[in-house]
Amino acid sequence: MVIVGNNLASSIYVRNKAKACSETGIYSEVHEFPESVSENEVLRRIQELNENTRIHGILVQLPLPRHFEDKRLIAAIAVEKDVDGFHLNNVGALVTGNAVFSPCTPYGVMRMLEKSGIQVEGQHAVVVGRSNIVGKPMALMWLEKGATVTICTSKTRDLTGYTRRADILVVATGKPRMITADLVKAGATVIDVGINRMPNGKLAGDVDFDSVKEKAGYITPVPGGVGPMTIAMLLYNTIEAARRAQAEALPRINVGNNT
Ligand code: GUN
Repeated sequence: MVIVGNNLASSIYVRNKAKACSETGIYSEVHEFPESVSENEVLRRIQELNENTRIHGILVQLPLPRHFEDKRLIAAIAVEKDVDGFHLNNVGALVTGNAVFSPCTPYGVMRMLEKSGIQVEGQHAVVVGRSNIVGKPMALMWLEKGATVTICTSKTRDLTGYTRRADILVVATGKPRMITADLVKAGATVIDVGINRMPNGKLAGDVDFDSVKEKAGYITPVPGGVGPMTIAMLLYNTIEAARRAQAEALPRINVGNNT
C-alpha cells in the first residue's frame, strides 16, 4: 500500500487493510510518504514494488494530495499487480466485459447482492455518484449482468424521480443522510457507500438508515456494511493476483491435445 500525505480517512482505510492482511495471513507493507514528497520518488517506489516478485498486489490510496496526478501514479502500477482495478488497461477490460481486476467497492456490492439472492438481471439499478472508484464501475458491473442502469450525479434534475424507481439503489455522494425514506421505493435494496464523520464524532452514511430501514427490502448499515466488503474484495483480488503469478511461473506442459 502506498499512501501520500496525512488524510485521516485514508490512514484509517490503510490501517484496516493492513490489519485484514495480517488476520488472513497475507504479507503486507505500508509505504508512507509525507505530502512534500516528489512524484518521482513515489514513482520510483512503485517501480521497485513492480519488480519485487514477493509482492503480488499494489495499491495507491486515494485521494492523493492536490499537486499529484492520480492517473500518473496509477499508470505506473504493473497491470498484473493492480488489485484495485484502477489502471486504464483494467478499466478497459471491465468496460468490454472482460474484467481482470474489478474495483473493490462495487465488486463487494455485487458479491453482497449475489450472496443475498438479489436478482440484478432486468432490474432498474441506480447509482448516485459518478466516481471512477464507485459510480462508473458499479454501473458497468450491473450492465454486464443485464440490469437497466441509471447513473445520477450531483447535477441530476429530479433526483427523486430516479431514486424512487430504483429496485437497487447504491449511494456514494458524501452527503450525510441525504437519502430519506421518501426517496426510496418500498421493498428496494438500498446500499450505502457513504462514510461521513458527523460533528459529534460518530460515523454516518449517505442514507438515513433509521427511516429507510422501515421502507427498504434490504439495507446496509454504516459502518459495517460496504466497508468490510471493500476490504474483503481487495484480499480476494490480491490472492487472485498471487495465484495468476504462480500459474505463470509454472513450466508449461504440452498435454498433447492441441493438434
Ligand atoms: N479511496 C477510497 N476508496 C478507495 C479504494 O478502493 N482504493 C484506493 N486505493 N483508494 C480509495
